Amino acid sequence: MSAYNTYFLWILCSLLLLLNLDSADSCPKKCGGIHIPHPFGIGKGCYLNPWYEIKCDHNTSLSVSKKPVPVLAVVDKEVVGIYLEGSIIIKNRITSKGCSSDGEDFESLLNLTGTPFYLSPSNTLIAAGCDNTASLTNIEPSMVGCKSRCGKKNHTPTQDFLEGECFTDYGSDENCTEKSIAKEKFCSGIGCCEASIPGGRQQIVGVRIDNSTTAKGCKVAFLTDENYLLANGSDTQRIHAKGYVTVMLGWFIRMPNSSFFDSLGCLTTKKYNIAKQIEHATTFGIDCTCDYYSSFSTYGRCECTEGYRGNPYVSGGCKG
Ligand SMILES: *[C@@H]1O[C@H](CO)[C@@H](O)[C@H](O)[C@H]1NC(C)=O
Ligand SMILES: *[C@@H]1O[C@H](CO)[C@@H](O)[C@H](O)[C@H]1NC(C)=O
Ligand SMILES: *[C@@H]1O[C@H](CO)[C@@H](O)[C@H](O)[C@H]1NC(C)=O
Ligand SMILES: *[C@@H]1O[C@H](CO)[C@@H](O)[C@H](O)[C@H]1NC(C)=O
Ligand SMILES: *[C@@H]1O[C@H](CO)[C@@H](O)[C@H](O)[C@H]1NC(C)=O
Ligand SMILES: *[C@@H]1O[C@H](CO)[C@@H](O)[C@H](O)[C@H]1NC(C)=O
Repeated sequence: MSAYNTYFLWILCSLLLLLNLDSADSCPKKCGGIHIPHPFGIGKGCYLNPWYEIKCDHNTSLSVSKKPVPVLAVVDKEVVGIYLEGSIIIKNRITSKGCSSDGEDFESLLNLTGTPFYLSPSNTLIAAGCDNTASLTNIEPSMVGCKSRCGKKNHTPTQDFLEGECFTDYGSDENCTEKSIAKEKFCSGIGCCEASIPGGRQQIVGVRIDNSTTAKGCKVAFLTDENYLLANGSDTQRIHAKGYVTVMLGWFIRMPNSSFFDSLGCLTTKKYNIAKQIEHATTFGIDCTCDYYSSFSTYGRCECTEGYRGNPYVSGGCKG
């Protein structure tokens, strides 16, 4: 090979390297103060595949804001946090009935069908208002809901006002009433109730307020991962005015085949073997593991092994 050719190749390699570094570096790391880690990304070439696309936008389905906010494009929901352990927190509209003067009610439905996102079981159903029976829809054959009541004015508030019960038929092991009463201490002045949601990976769930009751007044119901809202459960009008709550979704990596997982240089394993593999990985100083499963597509999760921190979804992203 001539000196000229060698020189030319060297230039080409340097250029390619530069371009490569440049494309990774040019991806925005943040939007609206929220950190956007890979596989999520803003702009073409920055997200792993379109499921993980984040739009940094002023105009969201909930509002038009002054500063841009991150929006999970596939479901068009504003994002308030992304966690590499496999969760993402989004804003979602609440279900309401009898709250607005123009008589407009709203029933929320979260449809994640066909995406690698699902409703995290750490959310709970919360309903507030007088004589409010709220339930989850689209999760047949299960029936999950709760009922909140307001007591009579001339009784001692603590007991009467805080009457709530929940119902569920997906398993009787949960002490539903006990649980809802325990949380009721956060609701003051008016009834509110809470029910836990079925486990598993629910991808479509709605929240409905029963319309058979004759009681007037503003009723709200929603799924949320927030606890602090309960403290203000008394004020259904204020919750309605805010219009949304945050919901936690779980996520995993979904790809047509295992090549992405294989490219990360992690110790890979098939589902249910992870404990054994982690033990193995620590012994040999491997910085990350991927647990994935292949059928019609490949899905799984990766994590940095003990002693390493960072992003397992970037090659060499776990640092000691
Ligand atoms: C926001 O988006 C909606 C629908 O995409 C559009 O109708 C509306 O004009 C947009 N508003 C602004 C301020 O860009
Ligand atoms: C949920 O979304 C899927 C896929 O987009 C669609 O086929 C289905 O009809 C939707 N279900 C409801 C109840 O909207
Ligand atoms: C459920 O509630 C009943 C009655 O309040 C109580 O006796 C029982 O111990 C509770 N069960 C559990 C598992 O907490
Ligand atoms: C309650 O809702 C159902 C279905 O959404 C509807 O068919 C029914 O007419 C409603 N009843 C009242 C009293 O509004
Ligand atoms: C709850 O109420 C407190 C005190 O009134 C207020 O400071 C706080 O902002 C409220 N939180 C929400 C989520 O509305
Ligand atoms: C695996 O999927 C990638 C896209 O993620 C594709 O480019 C590649 O050709 C696929 N490989 C095989 C062996 O199917």
